[in-house]
Amino acid sequence: MSSLGALAGHRIVPVIVIDDAGAAADLAHALSEGGIGCAEVTFRTNAAADAIAAMAAIEGFTVGAGTVISSEQLHAARDAGATFVVSPGFDAGLVDETRSLGLGVLPGVATASETMAAVNAGFDAVKFFPADRLGGLATIRALAAPFPGIGFVPSGGVTAATAPEYLADPAVPAVSGSWMASRAHLEARDFATIARLSAEATRAIGVRP
Ligand code: 3PG
Repeated sequence: MSSLGALAGHRIVPVIVIDDAGAAADLAHALSEGGIGCAEVTFRTNAAADAIAAMAAIEGFTVGAGTVISSEQLHAARDAGATFVVSPGFDAGLVDETRSLGLGVLPGVATASETMAAVNAGFDAVKFFPADRLGGLATIRALAAPFPGIGFVPSGGVTAATAPEYLADPAVPAVSGSWMASRAHLEARDFATIARLSAEATRAIGVRP
């Protein structure tokens, strides 16, 4: 599966840090209500695998694992039902292992050298992280010039205001971020706000929730 294929056409990928897997199903429903049919659940909490399993059980919802930096996390993600994996950086061994498990993978890059490694490993899209700290869209445009046809998915500091600007660029197939479903929203079980912010995001990029 191509790295772009891993995202199954989703243009906004919520980055989830969840402490209570019991909130995962409600979260998926709130995102869906706002027109977002996928999530990247990060392996930054112990609840990640159970949350992935709960969301994977929801018909029509695409769930991936984020912050995957080890083989153990990769296997936990696969066992929980994740269909794609996102990493903050590029690790050739982990990429090969992810592909051998049949999962889609979106590796992270921050430099031209890392992008080159990803392109030469056959990737058609990469995560650009941490996007805002690295100069945002201007840096993506500079990187995209020598790598035509490669999609850059900015992550890190993307906001409701900047998402549409990023997505208007042909080099940006999708954006990811936590702004519509933050850890604080989840802790407060504020699913109404998550649904509202998701709907605002999808409307802002021209997708009807
Ligand atoms: C991350 O890895 O934390 C993502 O890039 C999301 O970043 P954000 O919380 O700034 O949206």
